[in-house]
Amino acid sequence: MRRKIVAGNWKMNTTPAEGAELAKAVAAGKKEICDCVNFIVCPPYTHLSEVVRITRGTGVAVGAQDCATEEKGAFTGEVSARMIASLGVEYVILGHSERRQYYGETSETLNRKMRQAYANGLTPIYCVGEKLEEREDGRHFDVVKAQLEEVIYHLTPEQFERLIVAYEPVWAIGTGKTATADQAQEMHAHIRRTLAAKFGATAEQTPILYGGSCKPSNAGELFAKEDVDGGLIGGAALEADSFLQIGKAFLK
Ligand code: 13P
Repeated sequence: MRRKIVAGNWKMNTTPAEGAELAKAVAAGKKEICDCVNFIVCPPYTHLSEVVRITRGTGVAVGAQDCATEEKGAFTGEVSARMIASLGVEYVILGHSERRQYYGETSETLNRKMRQAYANGLTPIYCVGEKLEEREDGRHFDVVKAQLEEVIYHLTPEQFERLIVAYEPVWAIGTGKTATADQAQEMHAHIRRTLAAKFGATAEQTPILYGGSCKPSNAGELFAKEDVDGGLIGGAALEADSFLQIGKAFLK
């Protein structure tokens, strides 16, 4: 049985005070939901310490949205994996399409970030996904395969065992357009096959999350698919109720 995971990527939203309220509401609501669903919240760096404190012992885990490529030193504005891990944060999102697109992150950058994440005990949530024109040209499977081969294939088998992957078609992020459940399943199966080609049967255990306008109204249909193991949620994770509803979609 693969883990079922609902992760909230808050992106650059909420003040620390608003984030604390949101974390409290998620932690309170989580109590009503079976431990079979793993909840992760990923607030901005400035909120991490407080959100870790609020969620401790509640079954809600905390992730960061990024980390630095380097271990430490003269890198103004960067936050290292070690700093993040030392707060009690367990996860880190890496390779989000917004980082690739707006901050020029490449596979080379991401290999370095992955090394830092693993060296400091963080579990990466590695994002892949094609742009609209790549899907329209029929290149979506190749694009996602390359994003996996260029980064994930460099992991050791032990590192791979801890990995979480998120498929986020860029055209579905924040647009209200969702991949259909069949489109998601087709890509998730492709991702699992690509991972299995390198890591064998271990890939059967890798949680593969769907992201891109996932909300309470479509989560049930998406999560019912064999290779969809949960969601990486943007907008709908900014309201505790809708985020919790998405988690409950597993239980229907
Ligand atoms: P939305 O759910 O707002 O489309 O964002 C998805 C996402 O990018 C999560 O990382």
